[in-house]
Amino acid sequence: MEVVIVDTPEMVGIVGADIVERVVRRHPSAVLGLATGSSPLSTYRELIRRHLADGLSFRTTTCFLLDEYVGLPPDHPCAYLGFIAREFTRHVDLPDNQLHAPDGAAENLVAACDNYERAIAAAGGVDAQLLGIGTNGHIGFNEPGSSLASRTRVKTLATRTRQDNARFFSSLDEVPRHVVTQGIGTILQARHLLLVASGGAKAEAVAAAVEGPVAAILPASALQLHPHATVVIDDAAASRLRNGDYYRQTFADKPAWQTL
Ligand code: GLP
Repeated sequence: MEVVIVDTPEMVGIVGADIVERVVRRHPSAVLGLATGSSPLSTYRELIRRHLADGLSFRTTTCFLLDEYVGLPPDHPCAYLGFIAREFTRHVDLPDNQLHAPDGAAENLVAACDNYERAIAAAGGVDAQLLGIGTNGHIGFNEPGSSLASRTRVKTLATRTRQDNARFFSSLDEVPRHVVTQGIGTILQARHLLLVASGGAKAEAVAAAVEGPVAAILPASALQLHPHATVVIDDAAASRLRNGDYYRQTFADKPAWQTL
């Protein structure tokens, strides 16, 4: 696992965008896995800036979202499909029909989950998957206890996640109780995982993910099983790492992420 520690959330966005840009420039028809939440926003802002300033193009990429709430219509302001369009894809040249999200409004959710797995496979799999991390260590909406081999399926949200995400809704009661999420097994099939996090509230989850045992109780620890996982965090999110000085030293000596 590569752990890149930078000074600020903005720097997290710059390094995150460097990695995504490299994938897209190398493979203009790359398949990108997108995440919602506030953590990847600085990366999206930087990618939009590069699209506008340097012509970085997403026209021939295909994007798959990690997860979606169950029961929200796609045009609901809190639905993740709308979120990602507002925060990223609408501001670049990605055609609408090349953006995919799990269908949380489907009548048959089991079939919708299977279809989503098939769509990712038909696109050739994900080249680079952006991830945030929940304060309880979740990735996507794979809550603690999720099978490390899980595939796209319906999950029940943990109370802590509903409380964390209530800031996007007008009240806690409005936060859906169920979601559709790519499984941990699905996520691990992406060819490159890029987890971004900033702020002290994530420090404990980041330390457990990077340095703790691999365990279903901390879903992000599954990244340790992946051959190409990069964790980009700011100083605050890195504050609970025992090995932080070593990661800093490694990247001072040789910024390995530049060679990805
Ligand atoms: C949600 C998303 C996750 C995200 C997490 C962290 O639960 N499903 O993909 O990583 O929030 O959110 P934030 O980055 O806003 O802290």
